[in-house]
Amino acid sequence: MSQLTVQPAGPLHGHIRVPGDKSISHRALLLGALADGASRVSGFLPSGDCLATLACIRALGVHVETHDATTLMVHGRGLRGLQAPAAPLNCVRSGTTMRLLAGILAGQSFECALTGEPQLLRRPMRRITDPLRRMGAAIEATDGHAPLTIRGRQLRGYDHALPVASAQVKSALLLAGLYADGPTIVRQPGPARDHTERMLAAMGAAIQAPGLDVTLAPSSSLSPLELPIPGDISSASFPLVAAVLVSGSAVAVEGVGVNPTRTGLLEVLRAMGAEIALEGEREQGGEPVADVTVRASSLVGVEIGGDTVVRMIDEFPVLAIAATQARGTTLVRDAAELRVKETDRIATAAAELRALGARIEPLPDGFVVEGPTPLHGGVVESHGDHRLAMALAVAGLIAQGEVTIENAECVADSFPGFVGLMRSLGAKIHST
Ligand code: S3P
Repeated sequence: MSQLTVQPAGPLHGHIRVPGDKSISHRALLLGALADGASRVSGFLPSGDCLATLACIRALGVHVETHDATTLMVHGRGLRGLQAPAAPLNCVRSGTTMRLLAGILAGQSFECALTGEPQLLRRPMRRITDPLRRMGAAIEATDGHAPLTIRGRQLRGYDHALPVASAQVKSALLLAGLYADGPTIVRQPGPARDHTERMLAAMGAAIQAPGLDVTLAPSSSLSPLELPIPGDISSASFPLVAAVLVSGSAVAVEGVGVNPTRTGLLEVLRAMGAEIALEGEREQGGEPVADVTVRASSLVGVEIGGDTVVRMIDEFPVLAIAATQARGTTLVRDAAELRVKETDRIATAAAELRALGARIEPLPDGFVVEGPTPLHGGVVESHGDHRLAMALAVAGLIAQGEVTIENAECVADSFPGFVGLMRSLGAKIHST
């Protein structure tokens, strides 16, 4: 797929499931690789980013059996059992792969390089190299960017105060902390997703996180996991927002992860007036899960800032689409992190939405949208950013003409099957 074409939609209806959570899928592989024994993982997300992690752990000597695309057996080699890879590890376009692996590799007894595609080599790595060096890591980077060369060595425990709320940075430091000679403390300025902490606790690590401060004692071993991965709420956000916006729609997404560090978008949509219900709340693999139902609703603008931003950090491209249809002003602040995602999402979302007629102004740390604005058809660009591509597809459902999204193959970085699933709800969308 290199182009997506979307036509204005009639009502969307149906009960669907979205693929497994991307963050949890990465962690299942990386932590499973370090366990003493075999971890059974179901609901794995076979997306570009997670397949990059899979290839990396295989290159580190970990045997992974794939029963089918979503069911894996990860034969962990223990904390000290990874092997030096024959070549640099290719993280492709996945920041999570690179940053979390850097934490693990810092504590090994071999040297290893991490590289990836140009998009990934442009993303900031000082946020992990600086604190890992404080733990004693030997890492070479070029002007704060990958490729990284990491010479594994004995690490020391460190008390880190993070300048930004980032689960990737927190996780890298906790993974390095497994190998340190004393406790590692990570103090967060906001509630970044806590999947690493939950998984480490389930594997028997000595980890405590009563609030925003996480403390981990070094481990001598980790128990394997039995992990059914919930549906990814970030992927669910596209059909959910589409159903809120397309009049007459009613959609249920079953088995979605509703970890409170990830549910900011649901709360914001509710505050905007969307009719959203969570049913059948349960636990699955140490994570809260629910069936999420939405109905088409009329929206009003809201202000979003502070911790809510952290708890919906990947959902701003699609939130921006919702905001174009809300009455009044939607103001997003405290979201400068959006500038260092797969693209500068403040700049790319504003540029592409304006091309469809939206009234959106970028701000240094967010954006402001005036609505409601009828969107028109046009040709827009994903910039290689999967979430922007899917958000623009949602815009196409409510636009008054056909929307074509160029360079849309990146959708498979997080949501293989996106087109088929949207079509099953009644969307007129196809890939060429
Ligand atoms: C992720 C954390 C977030 C998020 C990314 C996945 C993770 O990044 O944007 O898509 O799996 O830890 P930051 O930690 O950089 O905010």
